[in-house]
Amino acid sequence: MEEQGPEVGLGDAELKELRQVIDSCPALVASLDRHRHYRFANRAYLYWFGLDPDQVEGHHIREIIGEEAYQTILGALDQAYAGESARYDGWVPYQPMGPRYISGRYMPRFAEDGSVAGITLLVLDRSEEQRARVSMEAAHQHTRGILDTAADAIITIDGRGLIRSFNPAAERMFGYRAGEVLGRNVSLLMPSPDHEHHDDYIRHYLEGGKARVIGTGREVRGMHRNGETMPLQLSVGEFEGSGQRQFVGILHDISRLRRAEEDARVRLDELARAERMQVLSELAGGIAHELSHPLTAIGARAEAARSQVFAAGRNGEMKALEESLEVIVSQTERAGRILRSMREMVGGNQEKVGPESLNAIVEDVVVLLGHEIRRNGVRCRKVLDPELPHVTVDRVQIEQILVNLLRNAVEAMMDQQGKRELTVVSRRDGDSLHLEVRDSGPGISEANQAHLFQPFFTTKAAGLGQGLPLCASLARRNGATLEARSTPGHGASFTLVLPVDRTVQRQEARG
Ligand SMILES: Nc1ncnc2c1ncn2[C@@H]1O[C@H](COP(=O)(O)OP(=O)(O)O)[C@@H](O)[C@H]1O
Ligand SMILES: [Mg+2]
Repeated sequence: MEEQGPEVGLGDAELKELRQVIDSCPALVASLDRHRHYRFANRAYLYWFGLDPDQVEGHHIREIIGEEAYQTILGALDQAYAGESARYDGWVPYQPMGPRYISGRYMPRFAEDGSVAGITLLVLDRSEEQRARVSMEAAHQHTRGILDTAADAIITIDGRGLIRSFNPAAERMFGYRAGEVLGRNVSLLMPSPDHEHHDDYIRHYLEGGKARVIGTGREVRGMHRNGETMPLQLSVGEFEGSGQRQFVGILHDISRLRRAEEDARVRLDELARAERMQVLSELAGGIAHELSHPLTAIGARAEAARSQVFAAGRNGEMKALEESLEVIVSQTERAGRILRSMREMVGGNQEKVGPESLNAIVEDVVVLLGHEIRRNGVRCRKVLDPELPHVTVDRVQIEQILVNLLRNAVEAMMDQQGKRELTVVSRRDGDSLHLEVRDSGPGISEANQAHLFQPFFTTKAAGLGQGLPLCASLARRNGATLEARSTPGHGASFTLVLPVDRTVQRQEARG
């Protein structure tokens, strides 16, 4: 069967020129006969496959491009051989040089009888373009992924304040779909006064002014579509995009944070109230504890007085009776003072405070406990600084502290062999006054030292464990602290540390 020859009228010179034109074309051009054998391939085509003309011409296309590639474009080839122009765009696994992304056109050539005499191939290699497109798409998708999944609203605007992008978190935060706000002024999302002034902010910045928000971030208010406003933390960055300056705003909803802060404040108030209740409950425990001593003393002395009266009735000696009755009277007054002070505290009143001499308080308490101290064979020493300034405290409360500390000391030594020494020291140390109660008892084990001030901690069979917590709480009420120290086996020491009262100091300096 005769192949259709070149158009009549073209001479050798023209044919040669035509061939040169096709050779100089950067696209891959080839023609196949009706049996799919190459008749011609241009220079670009040959170069692409790395072959010489005689390695191509007369060979079946399948031999040149490989079976896999042939099957890939077969549909397009068949269509062209059926008389219809065809195209193939996509990856083709060429055997000689691996996969290439091509844009292929397959055009039939017809014989005079109308049958397909062959086809012309025009192939453009788009691999690089395609790779660039794919990696750009990946980069784009990456960015999209970040924007889409970010928990914070991310909004970009241009130099005129018009919204360029609006991520899903922004949609949720403001109640607008991205499509509704793109191209609109971002001030839409702000309540007054930012709403009116935002354009000025940007203009001011673009004209070289200082931005109040770029690079730093600050708290702003945003406005939801429904008109509700919310506190937001805004940070703004600037970047060059699509040939112009753009701004990206990242908005974090801090309403939850604000609510949590408010909750924390309420909880703190509650805590303060609870602490007050705790002090009151300590006091309630303390009342039982505190009153037990004077009442026991009163009871014992009343008992004694009864027998003394009985004896006096016989020998007329009334001195011992007088003494006992005096103790009963003073202890009763003391119980009364304690109760008054408790009542004031429960009523929320200020304590009865005044400038007091710590030394005088010590003397009183030692007298008060004299009987108990002597009965237990304890020797009591007082080492008091005569220069000690007065200090503004609630006298009864300091007495309560001292009574507790002295009784604990006596109780600690009462079952012990060997010396039983109790020392009460007052001294000044810089800006503070120290009142120390020291004993020669067994001391306090390391483990127990950690629990001393916890309510209900006691190592005594009949202990209440209320004494030291009460002391610590009373010390705090007087601006003082209570410190415990002990080397187990070598006694214990409790020190009340009070700040020197400045007003009293000045008075003393003048007087
Ligand atoms: N001077 C001390 N020497 C040894 N242990 C002490 C001394 N003072 C307090 N403690 C220990 O601290 C515990 C708690 O004392 P406190 O709160 O006054 O309660 P209570 O005297 O009712 O036991 C005591 O049970 C005791 O174990
Ligand atoms: Mg006690």
